Amino acid sequence: MKYAIVGGTGVYGGFSSSCEKCIKTPYGEVFVYLIEEEGASFVFLPRHGKTHNKPPHLVNYRGNIWALKELGVSKVLTTAAVGSMTEKFKIGDLVLINDFIDMTKNRPSTFFEGENGVAHVSMQEPYCQGMRLILQKKSNEKNINIAGEGIYVCTEGPRFETSAEIRFYHQIGGHVVGMTSVPEVVLAKEAGLCYGAVGIVTNWCTGMVVEEASATDILNTVNEKKRR
Ligand code: HPA
Repeated sequence: MKYAIVGGTGVYGGFSSSCEKCIKTPYGEVFVYLIEEEGASFVFLPRHGKTHNKPPHLVNYRGNIWALKELGVSKVLTTAAVGSMTEKFKIGDLVLINDFIDMTKNRPSTFFEGENGVAHVSMQEPYCQGMRLILQKKSNEKNINIAGEGIYVCTEGPRFETSAEIRFYHQIGGHVVGMTSVPEVVLAKEAGLCYGAVGIVTNWCTGMVVEEASATDILNTVNEKKRR
């Protein structure tokens, strides 16, 4: 199959005709759904596992991307719950991610372990521009509002950020914060996949408003958005 969707928090599929499969990879087994719907066939991969039991810092990023490659996928669309650090993106907005700042600390983040010499993948365009154009066009056709493009800061999690960290991330150019796009996008690039990411704004980042976001707020906002 050529296309895949990687579903983040709150996006678990719900497709009518699907078949479940476990793909063996050098990084362990990966669970996917193979979907045939309205004449389209694609892979759906729940990023956090079938039962949403893998927190962001323990997601099997290498296994997930390997499994997609194994299935012949060449284009991957992903979703990610994000917090907003800017007035430009409000709760419930959809953001096309166009770059990232990596603040993760402790994740296996490459397939290149030196067996075939030293390799460095380009990060000139980590998120596929062609896919952003298609997403923008399709959402216009379907009257789905996309709030704009933004830079994703990826933190290690699973804790949320401090107010000081958010001020810093905003100052260095970030717009939204999440815990999963890195190393996923990097591995996809190493594997030669075209990779796109839609951020679903679930909360204001720490320090932006007085009340804090809870995990339930995040899930409620994604569920609300998904209905569209
Ligand atoms: N910070 C980090 N990750 C997130 C957030 C946040 O505020 N919201 C959703 N994922």
